[in-house]
Amino acid sequence: MPKAKLGVLISGDGSNLQAIIDRIEAGRLNAEISVVISSKRDAYGLRRAADHGINSVAVVRKDHKNAEEFNLAILKELQDNQVDLVVLAGFMLLIGSEVLSAYPNRVINLHPALLPSFPGDNGIKDALDYGVRITGVTVHFADKTFDTGPIILQDFVPVHQNDSEEELAKRVHKTEHELLPRAIHLLVEGRIRRDGRKVSILGRNSEQKGLKITF
Ligand code: GRF
Repeated sequence: MPKAKLGVLISGDGSNLQAIIDRIEAGRLNAEISVVISSKRDAYGLRRAADHGINSVAVVRKDHKNAEEFNLAILKELQDNQVDLVVLAGFMLLIGSEVLSAYPNRVINLHPALLPSFPGDNGIKDALDYGVRITGVTVHFADKTFDTGPIILQDFVPVHQNDSEEELAKRVHKTEHELLPRAIHLLVEGRIRRDGRKVSILGRNSEQKGLKITF
């Protein structure tokens, strides 16, 4: 099977990018990262890409006159690098229809809470402040609005009494670093099916066909 070409979009630390890199380097993910696109020039994730010899570029919103042009600039990078699957790994801006329609069922997002609870930029803090006993991580297909697309995988994370935001965040990130590469693996293996909002995971030897990610 050909290696899936990933475009990983980030805005900050890039610890999830690192988790993908590590899984690829360990030979446990049949993919390569063709490009890392950062919405911030000083994102630490760009350094991680450079350290592993991965092609990267910053595409900054304020350098473009509107959201459409910004998204077209992202799309150009994705297409120039022949990306098959777009992974939003801590990308803090809304990805537009320009990218979504070029990559149907091939843009996935990571969220640090159990959607549809606690959408938005502060999923971890919002869950902690609300007082839930269990929060978690969601990987879902991206759609036109933040954090609403069909759910691919979720896993729970317990909230301990007296957790600080940092302590909870550490536990959530650890789960993210497992869940995101696993979702990519399942997509790359053609083991994800989507019927409307319902997503199913096919067994390794299933006769059913999953989504096609590589072309
Ligand atoms: C993650 O918690 C992700 O869920 C959220 O932003 C954070 C990014 O972390 N959207 P990192 O840049 O991958 O370390």
